[in-house]
Amino acid sequence: MIVATSIDTVRGLLAQVRCSRQTVGYVPTMGAFHEGHLSLMRRSVAENDFTVVSNFVNSLQFSPDEDFERYPRNLAEDNQLCEQVGVDLVFAPAAEEMFPSPAVISMQLSGLGEVLEGKYRPGHLEGVATIVAKLFAIIGDCRAYFGEKDWQQLCVVRSLAQDLSLPAKVVGCDIVREPDGLALSSRNRYLTPEQRAGATVLNRALRHGVDLIVKNTEATVKSVSEAMSELIVAEAVVETLDYAVVVNSQTLLPPSKLEGDLRLLAAAKVGTARLIDNLGVKL
Ligand code: PAJ
Repeated sequence: MIVATSIDTVRGLLAQVRCSRQTVGYVPTMGAFHEGHLSLMRRSVAENDFTVVSNFVNSLQFSPDEDFERYPRNLAEDNQLCEQVGVDLVFAPAAEEMFPSPAVISMQLSGLGEVLEGKYRPGHLEGVATIVAKLFAIIGDCRAYFGEKDWQQLCVVRSLAQDLSLPAKVVGCDIVREPDGLALSSRNRYLTPEQRAGATVLNRALRHGVDLIVKNTEATVKSVSEAMSELIVAEAVVETLDYAVVVNSQTLLPPSKLEGDLRLLAAAKVGTARLIDNLGVKL
């Protein structure tokens, strides 16, 4: 496995890979790997000849009051895990490599980029879109693997690739969970044991929402959202609930009726950790 810190090195290596007609799989990450990240890498390794992982904590997607400074970083351990799952190349640039001069260009989102996370974390999805556009420009033609854990991010990245005609084929991957349902997240390590136990409420509420939709003929978009919200705010470790909603899985807007391809999404603060989760249901 090669670890590269410069854009030119990555471009050079990938040019050689493509010369020998090998396919490229790409997994963008911010490091602090857990099984969720590793599942994306394993899938890329299985489906492509050559797998690149980028490991870069992107300051653009954190607002000043968020956890950029304390976000977990452990490159040596991360590289070991990459090597174990069969990754061929890690791109771990310094901030100066990615941002050599003050930026003149940044992304602006509308539609599905403005709701939910777009509303509660202003600038976050724009920061994601900007860095992913840069990373796609560096990596070039590839299959790019993203987790459904960040459903809205996946939707934004799909739109990014389509709207800007970028040569990455975006692949969505299943959410990896703890046995009790909590979605794996680098931020779960901020939780105390008590908060960790209560954090399962997000997944419990979403499953309850799906149950209502599937089994209760009286259920409405509003009643499902209210039932999920009630469960979440009743949990003692929850500081604030940002949203618990049911939306059309593609537009991320509330459907007029509970039908079609739906996504239930929730975001809440547990202690100092902001946690998100989602589930899909098709009717
Ligand atoms: P990061 O949070 O490190 O996540 C990297 C990838 O792992 C994302 O596609 C995310 O959805 C996926 N992932 C995280 N937890 C997962 C889980 N429990 N199951 C399945 N997949 C999971 O997402 C980012 O980094 C950044 O925003 C990035 C796209 C790299 C841009 O900076």
